[in-house]
Formats: sequence, structure tokens, C-alpha cells
Amino acid sequence: MGENNEILTVKNLSKHFGGVKALDKLSMSVDTNDIHGIIGPNGAGKTTFFNVVTGILEPTNGEIFFKNTKIDNLKADEIARLGFSRTFQKGSIVEDMNVLDNVMSGMYLYNNTDPIKDFFFKHFSISNREKEIREKALESLKFVGLEGYSERWADELVWVERQLLQLARALVFDPKLIMLDEPASGMGDKETDQVKKVINKINSRDITVLVISHDVSMVMDLCDKITAINFGNKLSEGKPKDVKNDPKVLEAYLGE
Ligand SMILES: Nc1ncnc2c1ncn2[C@@H]1O[C@H](COP(=O)(O)OP(=O)(O)O)[C@@H](O)[C@H]1O
Ligand SMILES: [Mg+2]
Repeated sequence: MGENNEILTVKNLSKHFGGVKALDKLSMSVDTNDIHGIIGPNGAGKTTFFNVVTGILEPTNGEIFFKNTKIDNLKADEIARLGFSRTFQKGSIVEDMNVLDNVMSGMYLYNNTDPIKDFFFKHFSISNREKEIREKALESLKFVGLEGYSERWADELVWVERQLLQLARALVFDPKLIMLDEPASGMGDKETDQVKKVINKINSRDITVLVISHDVSMVMDLCDKITAINFGNKLSEGKPKDVKNDPKVLEAYLGE
């Protein structure tokens, strides 16, 4: 159902929590290979959008397509396997694990779940896979600038390093679409620039990026296109500078 160049399309997507319409008939699409931003004031529905698209929450209504595949009835792991990856706003990493193991946990998706193959090939595949997974994880850590961090405990990392670790974990199974929830929130300019550089690097590997930011300035020079949402619906969409200057967007932020 998606148009030719669209990697993700949602139509009339709604998610209600009791009386709260976190998403209210939202329709939008993301073009392949873009860096696409989603902005909006606190409580606009940004994180809920990610949770519904990635199958963590079931939509109340509406349709979601990955290219031409309808995915709104799929489970989170099935969606991930199609090539979706993401990070979490609260920096969810496993504190009492080292950095490398945190990144490797992103590969669990690849584990063989066919019981027969599992039975016959388990030892063989585990030893082979582990090596492959480890190499991929080390490569991802290097890619995000965390080379040499493998053996560090995750709880020793500062905030920017945690976000970079999340990026490394999200990259480890070669996603087609990577969804980043506030990857630079609470960071100073220097750390924000560091994160932006990695996002650009990810995009130059032909990975489509969908990035949430409450802070409009963070996505201005990063994104090809921005969708502004509020009350779970689209407020404005287009080139970053047009969206930023849209009176409807300015008003939504003033109302915070
Ligand atoms: N699990 C939940 N249960 C109930 N209400 C929720 C839940 N998640 C989000 N909400 C509500 O949905 C709205 C959108 O929240 P959210 O998607 O987190 O916004 P944003 O990420 O844009 O700040 C808010 O009113 C929030 O309180
Ligand atoms: Mg949020």
C-alpha cells in the first residue's frame, strides 16, 4: 500500500489509553533513505507512535505498512525481523552487563527458533553465531565511536555514551529503518553534535532514520523532512525551516 519510495506509511493511526487519545488518526509516511524528524511538545504522542509502529503497543485503529507489507497485526519481534530497529528515550541498557554484551543482546533476534534446527544444530550454530555476533558488535561499537569500551560496565557510562551504546545495539542486525527516541535530550552542544555525526554516518550506510526530538533546533540541520505532531495528530510537515516557522508549530510549543 505504501507508495514507491516509502519505507513506512501509517494511515489513520490511533492509540487510546482510556480517554486519552495519544495518537488520533495520524497519517504520515517516511521516504527511503531520508533522515525524517518527528517533533512536538511533551505529551504530543511521539513515543507512543514509536511504540505502536514497532509492535510494543497494539494500535486502537488504523494501518501501518513497511514498504508494501501490512505490519499492524505483527508482533514486535516479527516487525524487528523485517528490518526495524530502535532506541529508547530513557536510555534502556542493561546496567549490570558490560558494553559488549549489551550490544550483542541486539542480535538475539537472529537466534534460531525453529525447534528442529535448534535440536540438531544448536551447538554448531551457537559457537559459530557467537563469533559472528561478537564481530558485528565490535564493529558497531567502533562505528559509533565506542571502540575500546567493550569491557566497561554499562552503569559506568555517562549519558552520551549510553545513547551511543543504544545506537550500536540498534545497528547490530543491519536494520533498514532505525527509530531514535530523543537521542540527544539533556545533552550539551558538544555531545549533541557527536550524536548527530553518528546519525549522519548511519544514514550514509543507506539506513533510513526516523528521529524524535522535542528540541526543534536539534533536528533542523539533520533532517531532510520533519513532521510536527500534537495531540496525536499532524500539525505540519515539510522542510525543517518551513515546519519550524509554521505558526501552528510555534503555537503548540508556546502552549507547553
Ligand atoms: N502507557 C500509557 N498509559 C497511559 N497513558 C499513556 C501511556 N503512554 C503514554 N500515555 C499518554 O499519551 C500521551 C502521549 O504520550 P507520549 O507518546 O509519551 O508523548 P511524547 O513522547 O510526545 O512526549 C500523553 O498524554 C501520555 O500521558
Ligand atoms: Mg516521548
